[in-house]
Amino acid sequence: MTAFKKIEEEDLRFFTQLLGQIHTHTSPEKLAICAKDETEDFMYMPEVVLCPATAFEVSQIMRYCSTHLIPVTPRGGGTGLSGGALPVHGGVVLSMERFNKILDIDTVNLQATVEPGVVTEVFQKAVMEKGLFYPPDPASKGSCFLGGNLAECSGGPKAVKYGVTRDYVLNIEMVTAQGDIFWTGANVLKNSTGYNLTQLMIGSEGTLGIITKIVFKLRPLPTKSLVLLVPFYSSEMACRAISSIYLAGIVPSGMEFMEHDAINITSAYLEEKLKSKSVVPHQEGIEAHLIIELDGNKDEELLQNAELIHEVLADYEIGEILLAQDHTHKEELWKLRRQISPALNAFSHTKSEDLVVPRSQLPNLILKIKAIAKLYGFRAVCYGHAGDGNLHVNILKESLSDAYWQHEVPKAMREMFAACIALGGTLSGEHGIGWAKREFMPMAMPEIKLTIMRGIKQVFDPKGILNPSKIF
Ligand code: LAC
Ligand code: ZN
Repeated sequence: MTAFKKIEEEDLRFFTQLLGQIHTHTSPEKLAICAKDETEDFMYMPEVVLCPATAFEVSQIMRYCSTHLIPVTPRGGGTGLSGGALPVHGGVVLSMERFNKILDIDTVNLQATVEPGVVTEVFQKAVMEKGLFYPPDPASKGSCFLGGNLAECSGGPKAVKYGVTRDYVLNIEMVTAQGDIFWTGANVLKNSTGYNLTQLMIGSEGTLGIITKIVFKLRPLPTKSLVLLVPFYSSEMACRAISSIYLAGIVPSGMEFMEHDAINITSAYLEEKLKSKSVVPHQEGIEAHLIIELDGNKDEELLQNAELIHEVLADYEIGEILLAQDHTHKEELWKLRRQISPALNAFSHTKSEDLVVPRSQLPNLILKIKAIAKLYGFRAVCYGHAGDGNLHVNILKESLSDAYWQHEVPKAMREMFAACIALGGTLSGEHGIGWAKREFMPMAMPEIKLTIMRGIKQVFDPKGILNPSKIF
């Protein structure tokens, strides 16, 4: 491990000369904001927060920090759930908040060039105004940054039909740890020219370089959608129904699972904190709901598919299906779904997992999770992107003692990861490994794979200053 240098007056002088006083932050308030993201109870103070606005400024910062062995942790919207943006060794937090411009939306090639500090939803709306569609829609889309979405390879509900962030990135302008600036790929739809550095950067969690521009590919915007909310008497059956829907030839644009605990806690949160009513009617004995979204361009086709889903689900024990067709109703359902994570965090200390298995193994994974939770005596609330086999498991601290939380709960987490891997799954589908999950990496892969990853890190960042101690 590199012996990092502490930041001194002369370093601050360099940063201030480069960026100006106003973009070189040492106030306790700004440092405290950048000491945390949305990952459980971690907090690590940076020594300075720098807010550059150009690739050139980033390059100068990297060159300087590389020479002086100052650790640099890039930061987007701070919504991460694996601690990727935490400055665990202090040093510089490189906030990308001023990289907030959409540079070009090319309606001929269906591409867009943006800076990484653009908020995901702002970008979605901007392309939507031109009849175009950027599908990745993480639950935090109202505040997360596109650069962070690339760093963690974010997914969200629409991934089930349209794929994840990496499926939309054609090219990246990046700055290396040593300060070189280059484009990783080309603005073309096919590219078989050497190693794919663009894709290597995606999911690299800020450990290989700083993203300063992104070229996305876009799709035409589907103009119609409807949402079905289906209550199931058994969580296991809810998961089994998913495969039946695909077998009937339907590809939903959303297929989300929510356990009753997730819905109850979130409904209460919406009522108390946001003063809005829950849209999920109470039905006795319901264990879980599926949200199924269908999209396309023709109402008749969507309604036909909704009818087909009703027929498929006739084989399952379900409550009354709710159909949402108008914008407000659909939005209310999605709002409830998106607020689950903040609601659980507001309800109790949590540890949140992002397990992923082949879709058919989801019922087995849920059974395992419930058994482990029972054994250890805590509540594990499950929800997530069921169509992708991607299950978010939030372990609630509630009345557990601090000692139990610190020493016993990690053992339960290890058992959950082991169960997930035994079912053919892996540690994270869309939140990344970051700081919170790195101790579990050897469970998910052989040493040779870790050695190759460390070798890649060494090539990109020989001095080990870029987001050190993350992933492995
Ligand atoms: C979600 C985030 C936590 O799906 O990934 O709500
Ligand atoms: Zn998710």
